[in-house]
Amino acid sequence: MTTAAIIGCGDISTVHFAAIATMDDVQLVAVCDTDPARLKAAAAAHDVPGYAAYLEMLNEVRPDVVHICTPHHLHASVAADCLERGVNVIVEKPLAHTLAEGKRLIEVAERSPAKIAVCFQNRYNATSQAMRKMLDDGGLGQVIGASATVMWHRNGDYYRSRPWRGTWAGGGGGLMMNQAIHTVDLLQWLVGDVAKVEGRASTRSLSGVIEVEDTAEFVAEHVGGARSVFYATLANAVNAPVTLDIVTEKATLSLRGDLTITYADGTVEVVRERVAESGGRAYWGVSHELLITDFYARLGEPGPFWINPAEAGKSLAIIKDIYAQSYPDMPGRVA
Ligand SMILES: NC(=O)c1ccc[n+]([C@@H]2O[C@H](COP(=O)([O-])OP(=O)(O)OC[C@H]3O[C@@H](n4cnc5c(N)ncnc54)[C@H](O)[C@@H]3O)[C@@H](O)[C@H]2O)c1
Repeated sequence: MTTAAIIGCGDISTVHFAAIATMDDVQLVAVCDTDPARLKAAAAAHDVPGYAAYLEMLNEVRPDVVHICTPHHLHASVAADCLERGVNVIVEKPLAHTLAEGKRLIEVAERSPAKIAVCFQNRYNATSQAMRKMLDDGGLGQVIGASATVMWHRNGDYYRSRPWRGTWAGGGGGLMMNQAIHTVDLLQWLVGDVAKVEGRASTRSLSGVIEVEDTAEFVAEHVGGARSVFYATLANAVNAPVTLDIVTEKATLSLRGDLTITYADGTVEVVRERVAESGGRAYWGVSHELLITDFYARLGEPGPFWINPAEAGKSLAIIKDIYAQSYPDMPGRVA
């Protein structure tokens, strides 16, 4: 039996609790939260001991795997504390709230025999996997370029209910670090490492409500020569589907929920995304569960998990580069 614990029993923890419950050979043994009401509720709902201090939980319970579902500024330090004790980690995105913390976690992870996954679950989407495979197979020729949009809606209540989300100290950034990072990650994973990015972050509709940005755009040059354009905002009237279009020599891959592949000869193929049935899963999708169960299945394998800190550091570096260009007089928003 593999034992698991969760640190941070807020919104996203429900997906982690649900994924743990699907695995017969994994047992939840403890939960941790600094908020007494959330801790009490989670401990009671799952009938496990609750801890307000995660180090106390690690030392007393010694779980095999810890899920870190805290605000961003705690990701890297808590993950490093776990790895240094030989505890495996699944940490929510982003890797860290600063570049320095991200770099430190990459180094700790490379030294540690314990494994760590960063939750970029959209890489497990059926559409993402299909794109990666088609691009790897080579039949589509060179990637020429890509474009992506994340046009969602968030209002003041979303930030008032969780004040850390709107601050540089708690979030390390706004829209890019919290929402658009998934699409930044997919873009660089599918099109190639980013050699150069020029972009700008700004606060438009939520100015006066949050410190961090709610809108950003960039143009990136990828290793291999492809160029991509990106636009993201939380000022849209609704949560529109994320769009991602990748243009290759032989076809255009167009993601709008499902994936449509249009070949140069006019042939069209569609790859359908998986749809979760109900409840929280319907909102968050099924890919989180796929990532989590895959991580547990690979615990006994040699070598790092494939979505590890070095891999997750790529989206962090792109976003922090855009912040450096947008806020040149505020190095604290980057470092
Ligand atoms: N992968 C995804 O698609 C996805 C979706 C939503 C959120 N997230 C990520 O999940 C994380 C949490 O987001 P959320 O929306 O659930 O936030 P939340 O504020 O609802 O939950 C965070 C919880 O952490 C607790 N906490 C704070 N400090 C703590 C500490 N020192 N020790 C233990 N617990 C502590 C808080 O009390 C709170 O209950 C963030 O990193 C966020 O970006 C990921």
